[in-house]
Amino acid sequence: FQHGALAGKRVCITAGPTREPLDPVRYISNHSSGKMGYALAEAAADAGASVRLISGPVNLPAPARVEVTSVETAEEMLAASLDGIDQCDLFIAAAAVADYRPVSVAEHKIKKGSEEIMELRLVKNPDIVATVAGLQEHRPYTVGFAAETRDVVGYARSKLARKQLDLIVANDVSNPEIGFNSDDNAVTLVSADDEISLPQTSKRQLARQLIEQIAQQYHQSTQ
Ligand code: PMT
Repeated sequence: FQHGALAGKRVCITAGPTREPLDPVRYISNHSSGKMGYALAEAAADAGASVRLISGPVNLPAPARVEVTSVETAEEMLAASLDGIDQCDLFIAAAAVADYRPVSVAEHKIKKGSEEIMELRLVKNPDIVATVAGLQEHRPYTVGFAAETRDVVGYARSKLARKQLDLIVANDVSNPEIGFNSDDNAVTLVSADDEISLPQTSKRQLARQLIEQIAQQYHQSTQ
């Protein structure tokens, strides 16, 4: 692990889940703990970067030397991500953003009715990492994650192309040891013409390996 690999660079990272409210007391969310994104923030700071972490609701302390912006919804995460994006050299999207949110948020607690089946209407959320990767000006080097349960590298590769990313980290979340809320992870770092497998280890160690690889490929791209 190279200290100084990201010296003088600003790295912006999303982490954790988003929460999409239904009414004042209920929301839709997922099992992301933020561990992967927080470990990346710590590793990027150790590599000499100035780090901004845009975090959904998690139970983790802010890593040392990292500026944390807390958000709840996907729309808030998008706004926070775009705020100051012109300062970011690299953008890493480790957050598990809700793809959909309720069409409307009830002002008061939704009451239980007599019906057995209740339907929720959902509307698509903005895609944060694709928005950042599609910026015409000040586009940072953009790295996404792909949480998949089958054909992991295949689906990751199609997300890399569709979202116009520079790199994508393919994460097999069908294995509970290496996905949402686990302490370990194992991933494949996928670029347009390469694949690097990083075997199972702690998220902390894996984040250091990922930051090293990402820094190398970023520097190659700017040469
Ligand atoms: O938080 P942990 O408990 O440590 O778990 C880590 C993790 C499993 C959440 C992490 O390793 C991971 O895989 N993060 C991505 C989760 C995800 O939602 O992946 P996706 O395949 O649905 O999304 C693809 C990419 O688009 C991701 O970079 C995601 O941040 C981004 N995205 C998705 C939807 C959206 N509206 N906006 C986005 O930016």
